[in-house]
Amino acid sequence: MKILITGGAGFIGSHVVRRFVTKYPDYQIYNLDKLTYAGNLENLKDVDKLPNYHFVLGDITDDTFIKQLFEKEQFDGVIHLAAESHVDRSITHPNEFVMTNVVGTVNLLNAAKSIWKDHPERKRFYHVSTDEVYGTLGETGFFTEETAYDPHSPYSASKASSDHFVRAYHDTYGVPVIISNCSNNYGPFQFPEKLIPLFINNIRHNKPLPVYGKGVNVRDWLFVEDHAAAIDLIYHQGPDGETYNIGGHNEWKNIDLIKVLCKVTDKKLGRPEGTSEKLITYVTDRAGHDLRYAIDSSKLQKELGWKPSLQFEEGIEKTVDWYLNNQGWLDNVTSGNYQKYYEEMYGNR
Ligand code: NAD
Ligand code: TYD
Repeated sequence: MKILITGGAGFIGSHVVRRFVTKYPDYQIYNLDKLTYAGNLENLKDVDKLPNYHFVLGDITDDTFIKQLFEKEQFDGVIHLAAESHVDRSITHPNEFVMTNVVGTVNLLNAAKSIWKDHPERKRFYHVSTDEVYGTLGETGFFTEETAYDPHSPYSASKASSDHFVRAYHDTYGVPVIISNCSNNYGPFQFPEKLIPLFINNIRHNKPLPVYGKGVNVRDWLFVEDHAAAIDLIYHQGPDGETYNIGGHNEWKNIDLIKVLCKVTDKKLGRPEGTSEKLITYVTDRAGHDLRYAIDSSKLQKELGWKPSLQFEEGIEKTVDWYLNNQGWLDNVTSGNYQKYYEEMYGNR
């Protein structure tokens, strides 16, 4: 079994690669990654010497390269995670999201279609997507697999578009696809542009904690290893053409989550309780900011028996510990262009 994992040097991808190379020594795992600002081979240094792990440097927007790679390696499966993934960057640079998330996905679909056209059996194209394609909820209700797509950010619009292409390739060409839409992930190796690692890093440096708007937006947080476990299960047991929602039933209003983060991090840094809450700074809201995401994952629980393994309190402790014990990792990824990014993103808010 030869599986291509795209975006394996990123946050979620590195957890999926680690799970697959260690749990399935008989599989050959190919990690294809462009190593953008979000991709970091350090994320995999504990497993990159394993004989079944292979790294391929490359760009999914390069159709000739993708075609040749598939022809050469004849993959049996694809788990596609490579993407531009940050909503704020999609607001300032939408075209990059169209190129990687839409065009890149179509290039992979074309290559899979071409090498599998005579033998689609036991092949699988797994597209990893987000709950953000469903748009926003009000105070109540949940996203199910039947919820109509209604994306509001360039990021979610590009992911929605890629989901549509994946389904179209299934219905039109018979490509054996499967899709999952997951809620917000947190845990080790997440780039500190996203809320949780950004705030832990800022607390560490006594920098302001920029809360968008009034801090009332709600996200449904899932520990990243539980997402990787769901991907493993769906990849192996999900029926062809299906969609599964993945989520933690763990909704937090941003401001409440931020206060928990301040408390846990202060305690671990030996600072008096309340120290970091003083860093909370309300800033201009994100344009098109979705109010609430919440996933109904009962289909995945009923059909495939998945459920999250970690309680949030435990997950957040583990996460804060990881960032504080891996300050070298944080320092590495926040050197270079990070300061420029930070200034551009937060300078005028
Ligand atoms: P990430 O930004 O941490 O990692 C993305 C990876 O893709 C990086 O390693 C990057 O180098 C690589 N990449 C980007 N452009 C590429 C290109 N053109 N060619 C090859 N590689 C490229 O993202 P993440 O948070 O790990 O998300 C992974 C996937 O999961 C994405 O598809 C995202 O939409 C989806 N998702 C993320 C979340 C979340 O909370 N982070 C939730 C649900 C779904
Ligand atoms: P983020 O981690 O960017 O994930 P997403 O936008 O994909 O849900 O943001 C999570 C929530 O935190 C979202 O409501 C926006 C908010 N947020 C802030 O208030 N301040 C920040 O600096 C960031 C990055 C996010």
